[in-house]
Amino acid sequence: MPPDKNYNLYFDNAATSWPKPEPVYTAAEKYLRSTGGSPGRSSHSRALRADRLVYEARERVSSFLGAENPGQIVFTLNATDALNMAIKGLLQQGDHVILTTMEHNSVLRPLGSLKRKGIINTTVVPASTDGYPDLDYLQNSLTSTTRLVICSHASNVLGTIMPVKSMAEIAHRHNCLLLVDAAQSAGCLHFNVKELGVDLLAFTGHKGLLGPPGSGGLYVREGIKVDPWREGGTGSQSEKDEHPSEMPERLEAGTMNVPGIAGLNEGIKFLQSEGMEQIRAHELSLATRLLDGLNKIPGITIYGPSRPEDRLANVSFNLKNFDAGELAFALEENFGIQSRTGLHCAPLAHKSAGTFPHGTIRLSPGYFHREEEVDYVLECLEQTARHLVN
Ligand SMILES: Cc1ncc(COP(=O)(O)O)c(C=O)c1O
Repeated sequence: MPPDKNYNLYFDNAATSWPKPEPVYTAAEKYLRSTGGSPGRSSHSRALRADRLVYEARERVSSFLGAENPGQIVFTLNATDALNMAIKGLLQQGDHVILTTMEHNSVLRPLGSLKRKGIINTTVVPASTDGYPDLDYLQNSLTSTTRLVICSHASNVLGTIMPVKSMAEIAHRHNCLLLVDAAQSAGCLHFNVKELGVDLLAFTGHKGLLGPPGSGGLYVREGIKVDPWREGGTGSQSEKDEHPSEMPERLEAGTMNVPGIAGLNEGIKFLQSEGMEQIRAHELSLATRLLDGLNKIPGITIYGPSRPEDRLANVSFNLKNFDAGELAFALEENFGIQSRTGLHCAPLAHKSAGTFPHGTIRLSPGYFHREEEVDYVLECLEQTARHLVN
């Protein structure tokens, strides 16, 4: 039984991280309560303070990701917004796009709609049951009209860390751009956009970066022109009815989510002060403990790479003959454990893993979890499995 009836253990950090570091709450509240002001819009002190706040956050994201300069970082609402911005701002009539089966609906759906309108055509690279895309297939799918290759940095379903660097090399040999969806990896893995060789990278603020929902961004390598899919007020060049072409205003229109950006700034500051090596090491030790424990429970099948170092801490599995939703319900009802079930907005990834259409149950511990909490989850699962199977 849970320690008390109000006990709950949040194991759904791959959906959104919780809790946040304390300064994330205070920064968002401080902006709302006392800073106020719209950045880039007025010359009074509130607007200037808001402006400085956004600039500091942009600089922080830029150095965290290893971008050339802060102007290459565009703030967006989330990864979905950033992916739509890149996809719809880059692709033109007749373009060919290559994606993998591991992509989230935030890639599949914008591409699907452009395809249905007859604007683009696509090739989907198959992945192994562990989630690794077939790089020979990718290589053989490139044509003279291929403009963009899109790949997630790490799978939200299987946790698989993708060979993004190799994919960038293949794409660049054919003069294509690589757009990486780092919704799951940002804040969980230490990486640098230059070392990875990516051209565009979409991230969300509310998962590994520990910021508030409604924050995120797009990195655009210098020299790449993405057409704005949202145009409007920027506080600059207001005499023209043409949206400014300079980055980052080119892709930022309308009043910004300053409390979200202020919180994101603090989330990343927290990661920097802990150190990404320490963050990764702790999450890896939780994943290792979880995988080892799950492996010992009769009837459980784990999906994704078996070596913890090849994956993030999100772990998908199923219990023999039991619906994942039923299992998740039992875990919360009896033990206060919160998980996520179903297709995780990535239907093709489940097809690759062999878990379509029912999906899996996913547990995703976060940096604030302790090893004892993983042990508690394992004990509860073991008990539930024994009870359900017998
Ligand atoms: C791999 C992946 N891509 C994109 C997204 C979309 O992120 P957001 O909902 O923050 O836009 C998610 C969120 O679950 C994800 O896991």
